[in-house]
Amino acid sequence: MDRKANQSAHQYRAIVTGYGAFVPPKKLTNDDLASMVDTSDEWITERTGIKTRYISNDNETTAYLATEASKRALEQAGLDAKQLDLIIVATVTPEVVFPATACFVQKDIGAEKAWVFDLNAACCGFIYSLATAQQFLETGRYKNALVIGAETLTKITNWQDRSSCILFGDGAGAVVLQRSDDAKRRGIIYSTMSSDGTIWETLNCKAYGSRYPASKEPEHPDDIYMHIDGRQVYQLAVRRIVETVNESLEHCGMTIDDVDMLIPHQMNARIIESASKRLNLPEEKIYVNIQDYGNTSAASIPIALDEAIRRGKIKQGDIIVFVSFGAGLTWGANVIEF
Ligand code: UT7
Repeated sequence: MDRKANQSAHQYRAIVTGYGAFVPPKKLTNDDLASMVDTSDEWITERTGIKTRYISNDNETTAYLATEASKRALEQAGLDAKQLDLIIVATVTPEVVFPATACFVQKDIGAEKAWVFDLNAACCGFIYSLATAQQFLETGRYKNALVIGAETLTKITNWQDRSSCILFGDGAGAVVLQRSDDAKRRGIIYSTMSSDGTIWETLNCKAYGSRYPASKEPEHPDDIYMHIDGRQVYQLAVRRIVETVNESLEHCGMTIDDVDMLIPHQMNARIIESASKRLNLPEEKIYVNIQDYGNTSAASIPIALDEAIRRGKIKQGDIIVFVSFGAGLTWGANVIEF
């Protein structure tokens, strides 16, 4: 690979300098779920790869999880929250309808100088947010950004629906992104994002938006919960993940052999396995931790990143690829030199 050929025209680069994650302490096992709905550890393990997931209590809100992950990322980067220019929280389970969850995080970490907002791109929220922060750093407009994926999906889970309640968990992950003019460090090399709103109904939660306000009885009592058409998502996800990774690598003048670690959104171990087979990616180059966390939507990639680094699976200079697919529909990837 000709690394010079991939140098961007920008003078500045967006470098990941800190990472952190936090999950609530309470674990829910497959056996626990089997006592709630008609399912079994065997079915869940075989069809999804999930064994446990973390569940938040009433006090462990999205902003709380995001704040805890942020403190860890800032400490890791050795950056004071007061130096932050920008905070983005990717979430579909915000603290309140408004203001943004990011406002609560800003207050709790004391990032008084930052401007902050939430980004709703479901499971692609972290990828979209990273790409958004990247633009502000590369243009030189800002120096320090905090990008967070945080979710409390179990608060919009229908615990009577066995086809969805087995999938989701709560948690948050964060990264500190800093502007750099060091020509030897590339940081985020490339980001790509796509959306298709025509099949939005495949994955949704309808309640309490303008179409389904709290003042109106929901058309169906289950409309207050997440709805997923798992089979349709499954089929589209594998195809889109493979296409997106291949397109991204091609754009960067790389091949799959240049990738040191692929961190996919943790949606289903079988989807990840199918995609990695089609990409010809060896098992040791794909990070999977869905067995412990379930699907945590926007939080899944930064949680996996934090864990992979702490376990020594990623080192400085490695080429890592994030890829995701989810509600919207949305899909996207980031290619990063760590
Ligand atoms: O991040 C984006 C959001 N994530 C997703 O959208 C998830 C993507 N999809 C998936 O992960 C999989 O499609 C599921 C795990 C949701 C379902 O797996 P599947 O292999 O696609 O199963 P299926 O929906 O085709 O259902 C097969 C059978 C059905 O029974 P019949 O009709 O064959 O008698 C279901 O009723 O499995 C039954 N089933 C269950 N059985 C035991 C569905 N859920 C369960 C369950 N336990 N929890």
